[in-house]
Amino acid sequence: MKNIRIALTKGRLEKFSINMFENIGIDCTELKDKGRKLIFKDDKNNIEFVLVKSTDVLTYVEYGAADIGIVGKDTLLEQEKNFYEVVDLKFGRCSFNVAALPDYKNYTSLKRKRIATKYPNVARNFFRSKGEDVELIKIEGSVELAPILGLSDAIVDIVETGTTLKENGLIIIEKICDISARMIVNRASMKINKNKIGTLIEKVQKYVDENVK
Ligand code: PRP
Repeated sequence: MKNIRIALTKGRLEKFSINMFENIGIDCTELKDKGRKLIFKDDKNNIEFVLVKSTDVLTYVEYGAADIGIVGKDTLLEQEKNFYEVVDLKFGRCSFNVAALPDYKNYTSLKRKRIATKYPNVARNFFRSKGEDVELIKIEGSVELAPILGLSDAIVDIVETGTTLKENGLIIIEKICDISARMIVNRASMKINKNKIGTLIEKVQKYVDENVK
């Protein structure tokens, strides 16, 4: 029987994902002791995992190189692609926010604001929905630096604990939306492996319902 391949997002979501799959009876021993390996198998359950960057999870699942992906809603909102989003896993919770130095005010002023972000599509959609025309500047990381160095008036970024904002003297101006990890499935895989993937989705949904408030 062909393995079901699951692409996991490296980093913050990793240990939550492993914990969840272990709880639904998948052997994650290889995944927990990974060394330099890139593919981790549970032969008994015909499951294999790959660990990749969040945006690559979308690419692998969209093209069917992975059947299933675990990825943050932030990445899904930024890069709209074609697959099924099947379960809100409710871990990796955080939110998108507009943040700035405390002297940022007057949203309605005539000045066209500069917004630095790693998420230009999310920022564009948000300001467009408010009817506000802004200039977007793409930054790859440590976006909090941009208003401090005078590069932008504000940022659109993820806030989890709020520590990064606080330690850098920034405040939340407006919340955009909540974020959490999602399970996604390739469209063709869903049809071809209907039973196996359907059972897995049910188990995952049950795990979320019973274990996550
Ligand atoms: C994210 C985000 C914030 C920080 C928020 O960055 O961009 O900088 O986490 O977390 P907090 O509210 O708990 O402080 P990440 O650590 O992913 O790295 P990056 O700055 O390189 O994007």
